[in-house]
Amino acid sequence: MLSLIIPTFNERDNIHPLYERVSRALSAEEYEIIFVDDSVDETTREIARIAAEDPRVRLLHRRERGLSTAVIAGFGAAQGDLVAVMDADLQHPPEILPQMLQAQRQRRADVVVPSRYIAGGSPGGLDGPIRRSLSLGGRALAHLMLRESRATSDPMSGYFLATREAVLPLLGSKPKGFKILLELLVRGRVQRTVEVPYSFAERSANQSKLGWKTQVDYLRQLLDLITVHPENTRFFLFALVGGTGVAVNAALFALLTSDLLQGVQHAALLASPIASNAAIAWNFLWNTTITWRDRYRSANLWRHALRYLLVSETGTLITWLVLLVLRAMGLQFDLLDQLVGIAVAVLATYRLNDRWTYLPVGETVLEPERSASRR
Ligand code: GDD
Ligand code: MN
Repeated sequence: MLSLIIPTFNERDNIHPLYERVSRALSAEEYEIIFVDDSVDETTREIARIAAEDPRVRLLHRRERGLSTAVIAGFGAAQGDLVAVMDADLQHPPEILPQMLQAQRQRRADVVVPSRYIAGGSPGGLDGPIRRSLSLGGRALAHLMLRESRATSDPMSGYFLATREAVLPLLGSKPKGFKILLELLVRGRVQRTVEVPYSFAERSANQSKLGWKTQVDYLRQLLDLITVHPENTRFFLFALVGGTGVAVNAALFALLTSDLLQGVQHAALLASPIASNAAIAWNFLWNTTITWRDRYRSANLWRHALRYLLVSETGTLITWLVLLVLRAMGLQFDLLDQLVGIAVAVLATYRLNDRWTYLPVGETVLEPERSASRR
């Protein structure tokens, strides 16, 4: 059985049309609809009226607020072996529920995500360039920092289906943000995730509840989720150390050119490699004592250091090659090209350091089980 969970906060005008469309879409299925309602308007009465007539509809009214806790309360109340979550405002078309169910059954998926970002899908109802770029930026950030989120092109989706088994670890938790799908991908029992395309519709009535505060909550949620799995924490620390390295590099460069090397001819040309190498040493110090501290062996210090230096120089080369390639493609935007190069180099050097620099001799580093069995 499918338990469809619909969180509602002041969605009065949407309840009835939503109920009709869901009932039609699921007419061939066994299902229940659980409205988890925190409304302070007539929404509650509207749902109660439908629940009185249709035994498949349940109302869970709460006197608190919070989208995440509402969804998790819904998981707790669900009786089906499958659960799905959907907004009440008809931005999520109920008509694709059968496709989602079919995808789950045919491909034995733990999670099915309707995606706006694959062929056949569209982010249509994300109104305006600002919301759209926030959504894409948030997605890029999630993909960069949480490897589990890479299982889908739309990890911020509020619409998804999962096995009840997969959501069990979430029961009773109180996530910092409202992106439940991210929470599920990182904390849930999820091996296989599949996608189906869909078009995100315009909000049909009443207002969006998610304002600016949600952006801040989102960042807090990401930081929180990063700490769940060591691989994500490690990459985050590496990026953080790299950021401080850039600051060290720039500060030393400025100091040398404006003060210490004053009067020296071509001071900048001399200052640049000094500053870069100082930054490499600085990064090595922190990456060894923090980022890969579990892999550090004092007997291997010089080996770690030499390899780290080689990897860092490889990073410089990679950045330069990216710059070269972008220019050859006619994309000559100097600073932007350099930034793209740096991004590629960060990913590459992370991997090289993880697989080579900090590999303890005679030991093999075990792949974490979940990433090995992924997809
Ligand atoms: N029970 C309950 N309690 N429901 C809530 C609350 C609350 O405090 N706040 C919002 N909801 C319900 C709304 O009634 C709606 O059904 C759903 O949660 C999503 O709220 P919207 O206000 O429509 O959010 P949105 O359209 O800005 O964001 C949606 O799309 C995003 C993707 O762009 C959500 O689905 C997000 O989760 C999703 O990331
Ligand atoms: Mn919405």
